[in-house]
Amino acid sequence: MAHFLGIDIGTSGTKTLVVSEDGKILAEAAQGYGLAMPKPLWTEQNPEDWWQATIATVRAAVKKAKLKPADIKAIGLSGQMHGSVFLDKNHQVVRPALLWNDQRTKAECDEIEQRAGGRKKLIQMVANPALTGFTAPKILWLRNNEPKNFAKTVKVLLPKDDIRRRLTGEYATEVSDASGMLLLDVAKRNWSTKLLEKLELDPSMFAKVYESEEVTGKLTAAAAKELGLTTDCVVVGGAGDCAANAVGTGVVEGGILSNSLGTSGVMFVHSDQMQVDPQGRLHTFCHAVRGKWHMMGVTLSAAGSLQWFVEKICSEVNAKKNAYDIINEEAAKAPRGSEGLFFLPYLSGERTPHADSNARGSFVGLTLSHGRGHLARSIMEGVAYSLRDSLAILAEMKVPVKQIRASGGGAKSPLWRQIQADVFGQEVVTINAEQGPAYGVALLAAVGAGSYKNIQEACAATISVVSRTPADKKAIPIYDRGFPIYQQLYQSLKKDFVAIAGLG
Ligand code: XUL
Repeated sequence: MAHFLGIDIGTSGTKTLVVSEDGKILAEAAQGYGLAMPKPLWTEQNPEDWWQATIATVRAAVKKAKLKPADIKAIGLSGQMHGSVFLDKNHQVVRPALLWNDQRTKAECDEIEQRAGGRKKLIQMVANPALTGFTAPKILWLRNNEPKNFAKTVKVLLPKDDIRRRLTGEYATEVSDASGMLLLDVAKRNWSTKLLEKLELDPSMFAKVYESEEVTGKLTAAAAKELGLTTDCVVVGGAGDCAANAVGTGVVEGGILSNSLGTSGVMFVHSDQMQVDPQGRLHTFCHAVRGKWHMMGVTLSAAGSLQWFVEKICSEVNAKKNAYDIINEEAAKAPRGSEGLFFLPYLSGERTPHADSNARGSFVGLTLSHGRGHLARSIMEGVAYSLRDSLAILAEMKVPVKQIRASGGGAKSPLWRQIQADVFGQEVVTINAEQGPAYGVALLAAVGAGSYKNIQEACAATISVVSRTPADKKAIPIYDRGFPIYQQLYQSLKKDFVAIAGLG
């Protein structure tokens, strides 16, 4: 039987899965790495760390699966989106990559809008407004702030595409991740020559664009040796982690929404047509399904907010093995609505719906009666409200959401799943495939290698619903009252966030 690898170059680490043709996960391996924050709200990583983690996890996973090198027929790549790998003419990394949650590029976002002829025109060209996390502003930041590094740069790749370059020697990308560079004509599924011209960026800097299941190359002899695989192993396009996660949770047809609760939280719906939010609050990107699109809203600090709380605020709990169980138990004891305590999860600014890099995380409504459990619960509720912001925009756009599929680390908590169902006022289900992005791209690899006709067929053969968390009728009105208060808090604090950011 053919076997495939799904490799996900995440923000906290890289994960590799070995998946058999019938969708079974035979082995997995993960390796973590750090994140540099040279200044507040700046985030950077060294692409070499991703590569070392790729080698280590591929070797470990294939060994655990007890397979021979020739058994691995294809690799699918997924990864954190938007990051900028700058390469010089000798294929060397020019400086550490700026990441998706880096917020340094406000001035460049303004510059892009202005060069494009305004926000509306920009949305017409690339389907999205300029956001600090996207790649194009990072390239302009390099040009404006590190001109010597910019002069050396001949190629700009996304994180997973830099791994592809090291695997195959090819400069290639695919439609879903490329959409998040803010340089893709999302309707035509290729680079926007118009915008590249306006930004004075040389088109040769950018990789060739493929559909997600297309073969982009084969392992080079050197890479095959490093990984312990063969040069017959092909590498398919793969997908940015959001689209990859959607594929890995079977979100490959209309009406199904993937709600992923990782470091960031993503609400993602499949769309047969390209639909654009005229206000640009939701992203419209190409889906990893050939010829289809998706819309998504992103909460930058989702499970990342709870992680911050546990690691930085509850350090004595964090020292224990079952830290998250303890915090979940305490949160479960606090009443719904956290007795009037609200949390705004804007720890790294916010994407949807505010697109505001000045926004800051906040607890509002504290009283002497609140304890740690209330704080934990209000974080879970605040993140769920923030995801509901995306649902509300989809409802405004009349996009049907018939089923919500929860995934990611945060979805493992039954309490957080219940809070989400109650805040959304709609059932949340989980599925048998828990490995999200890495699983999704392993399925794309299976399609690319010819094991399935298309990705819809691969998902239908491998993914099914395993748990249902209905919304509690008694809880819905509580959160329906809380939601407009939550929404108003940002409006009330918006100006103060600007003043706070001005403090440096
Ligand atoms: C999506 C986004 C994040 C990263 C996280 O637009 O910025 O979800 O991809 O890995």
